[in-house]
Amino acid sequence: MIVLDKEHKLFTLHTQNTTYQMKADAYGVLLHTYYGPRVRGGDLSCLLQYTDRSFSPNPNAAGTCRTYSLDVLPREYAASGGGDFRIPSLEVEGPDGSHTASLRFAEAQVRPGKYALEGLPAFFGAEAEADTLVITLEDAALQLQVELFYGVFEAHDLITRAVRVVNRGEGTVRLRQAASLCLDLPGGDWDLITFDGRHVMERCPSRAPLRPGVQSVGSVRGTSSHQHNPFAILCGREAGEEHGLCYGAMLLYSGNFQAAAERSQFESSRLVLGIHPYHFCWTLDPGASFTTPEAALVCSNQGFGAMSRRFHRAIRSNLLRDPYGDRRKPVLVNSWEATYFDFDADKLVELAAASAPLGVELFVLDDGWFGARDSDSSGLGDWTVNERKLPGGLEALVARIQALGMSFGLWVEPEMVNEDSELYRAHPDWALSVPGRGPSRGRAQLVLDFSRKEVRDHIYAALKRVLSSAEVSYVKWDMNRSLTDVWSAALASERQGEVYHRYVLGVYEMLERLRQDFPNLLIEGCSGGGGRFDGGMLYYTPQIWCSDNTDAVDRLRIQYGTSFGYPPCTMGAHVSATPNEQTGRTASLETRGAVAMSGTFGYEMDFGKSSPEERETIRKQVEFFKKHHHLLQTGDYYRLTSPFQEGPYTAWAHVSPDGREALVNLVTGSTHAALPFTSLRLQGLDPNLDYRVNGGKLWPGDVLLTAGYPIPLFLGDYQTFQLYLEAVDASSPAF
Ligand code: GLA
Repeated sequence: MIVLDKEHKLFTLHTQNTTYQMKADAYGVLLHTYYGPRVRGGDLSCLLQYTDRSFSPNPNAAGTCRTYSLDVLPREYAASGGGDFRIPSLEVEGPDGSHTASLRFAEAQVRPGKYALEGLPAFFGAEAEADTLVITLEDAALQLQVELFYGVFEAHDLITRAVRVVNRGEGTVRLRQAASLCLDLPGGDWDLITFDGRHVMERCPSRAPLRPGVQSVGSVRGTSSHQHNPFAILCGREAGEEHGLCYGAMLLYSGNFQAAAERSQFESSRLVLGIHPYHFCWTLDPGASFTTPEAALVCSNQGFGAMSRRFHRAIRSNLLRDPYGDRRKPVLVNSWEATYFDFDADKLVELAAASAPLGVELFVLDDGWFGARDSDSSGLGDWTVNERKLPGGLEALVARIQALGMSFGLWVEPEMVNEDSELYRAHPDWALSVPGRGPSRGRAQLVLDFSRKEVRDHIYAALKRVLSSAEVSYVKWDMNRSLTDVWSAALASERQGEVYHRYVLGVYEMLERLRQDFPNLLIEGCSGGGGRFDGGMLYYTPQIWCSDNTDAVDRLRIQYGTSFGYPPCTMGAHVSATPNEQTGRTASLETRGAVAMSGTFGYEMDFGKSSPEERETIRKQVEFFKKHHHLLQTGDYYRLTSPFQEGPYTAWAHVSPDGREALVNLVTGSTHAALPFTSLRLQGLDPNLDYRVNGGKLWPGDVLLTAGYPIPLFLGDYQTFQLYLEAVDASSPAF
């Protein structure tokens, strides 16, 4: 609900459990008065205090008043140069070279339904689900208009933000920074949690108290990156999984980003999230506008678990555009780890034939099917089927796969080119590179300049031809290097600061075209695993390959970290062969299965090499997944223990939204002799119901929630234990 008090220029956004408020003060400055647990409302600017602070200047409009300074007030969207020395949201270079802007309130408007952003990913919402508030600020001297968009999803406790900057003046202005979100909070005593890592070990949470000054993470790699994720949490020192105040902030963007938090001199804190200012400079000619990516906020005073579940629900229902909706997606087998580049049609059909009897439904042909691609140093850019490996093209192969009762999926990497390719020989200038310098190589490949329409059109046409040549129901869109040498032959020198962002817009445009032309196609995002796992990509690709690391034990950490912002149904997860190729570790099929089932679920192995017993285990595993997919894919997710903490096991649960059904998963760590007894306290159940556990005894919900379930002792490392709980109606004596 949006309460617009025009008279007092007071704007209050209520969601079911939270309240967010702004007020334009006497000088027209938009102040941020409150964001937190839901309160009744009223004018919360009563919380603000004013005093004369040295070295905190007073704006010209305040005349001789010394107690009014932008440097100490909580701001909604702060431009640089006017006396607020904290991290700015907006930095504008005027036609005269100045870097000062003073944004003042102009008007506010409420609209039913959720705003959309042209060419950019954004949460969507019909009138019954969301409302929009647009607040327009203006800088009179520059004639610059800044529109702040707010989407309010009451039931999800989600507030989205985006900003549009319009040049209404006669001169050219340049945006040096345009953040999507600025959040000023009272107090400095917050912890900042970011999700960091590296290739094959992505999104591990790291928590530290805010220090005085600015601390930030971000990416200047052209993608959101393996190293840091565009999702961060500010929380109280005491906040934990089930208690405490926390604010989650997510940027729906797949390129360079910065998440910066600042603890100020007077113990207030600011979080700024948006496109990274590095090599960003957007020229706005008269009449032109720039729209930032969207950011989304969730506040919870019941800890991280509730925060995550709010993001999960909102993402599932109002961000993913999944052709399957809530229907179960096919269980897939991917050829990569089974064959790498070494295959022909017979070998692929053999792999598929070994999979079909196990209940696997989709065969995905990974890298190596096109151009002269026998290793990763050639062929990218040439999107025509290699008929030496696949005579008769995709059509012939797909017919053989379909004859086994399976559907077919394909790997592509459209943004890249190898120097050893027909495409590069014909169009060397289509790759990003700086004139006079040889471009850096990454995995022996260069990055195509997707900021250019003709480049995108060429690649798109080739892909469309391939995808139309046979029935392809799934595409894995990969991207296997970071951007360097970012310079576009199609843009003037003063516009080179636009290339990174135009590249991302180009990727979005291609993906949107693909969605429009192939509406039933399931697209899985990928960037060397989880190098572009973000809310922006999820709008186009409802699932993303979570990590190239398929080791079940490492995946406990990767999927745990990823789950803070993103729902399990978006996490590409497969069972692969053991010992694992990335870690050399051996884990049981049961453990690998339980971990992969908490994601999209599939396999990445040659079943022909499995023993009959293993094949039987896999068949049962697939059956189990199919039976419980609704719980695994649309249930509420509970992190019961952390894989980063010392303890005998990692546990998590999927609980149906009505609390009547749950699947609890537990994976033990490396074991020790004479282990102590432990009980696992569950979450999300109804205390008033009794639950039948694994088809056996009845357990009272309140006991499972308080005392927990006694975990049997296991011999061996990395064992798995799954509990399926179903509520029974009649209240019968338990135990
Ligand atoms: C990346 C992906 C892998 C696989 C290879 C193919 O590394 O993450 O899953 O598709 O590329 O080259």
